[in-house]
Amino acid sequence: MVVTLHGDLGAGKTTVARGALRALGWTGPVKSPTYTLVEHYLFSRLYFYHFDFYRFADPSEWETAGLADYFRSDAVCLVEWPERVAGLLPPPDLAITLSYGAQTAAGRMLVLAAHSVAGERCVSAINDTLLPSLPAA
Ligand SMILES: Nc1ncnc2c1ncn2[C@@H]1O[C@H](COP(=O)(O)OP(=O)(O)OP(=O)(O)O)[C@@H](O)[C@H]1O
Ligand SMILES: [Mg+2]
Repeated sequence: MVVTLHGDLGAGKTTVARGALRALGWTGPVKSPTYTLVEHYLFSRLYFYHFDFYRFADPSEWETAGLADYFRSDAVCLVEWPERVAGLLPPPDLAITLSYGAQTAAGRMLVLAAHSVAGERCVSAINDTLLPSLPAA
């Protein structure tokens, strides 16, 4: 599935990707793919790719770097700065928008939008498991 992470510089996109990897049991380092475009995480049960397209400038690189090959049905792709590859990226199953400001104190506000059955399943799972552990707004 494809999960897009929207939000300004420093909004917390990499932090969400790191949290997802930790929840899956990944104990190694989780680097921001800002300079590499993509970081690979191979689990026994899934392929996990974390992208950051902030520095993506040349659309022909999508083809030459074989980026389309990552977006397979057996892979989970988390994508920071999806706006930079609009028109190239497959439609997301789940779009997460992060924001922060006075109203969120030190934390972040997340808006989740499901665009497929798989995305709806994620939103339900997040509602069931994460929301009860959050402090009351
Ligand atoms: N929920 C949160 N509460 C408090 N601090 C946070 C939260 N999420 C992220 N941060 C902090 O904000 C900073 C930026 O986070 P992060 O690198 O995840 O942002 P980003 O959206 O990936 O930025 P970029 O656009 O540069 O890739 C980090 O210092 C991180 O620890
Ligand atoms: Mg980041």
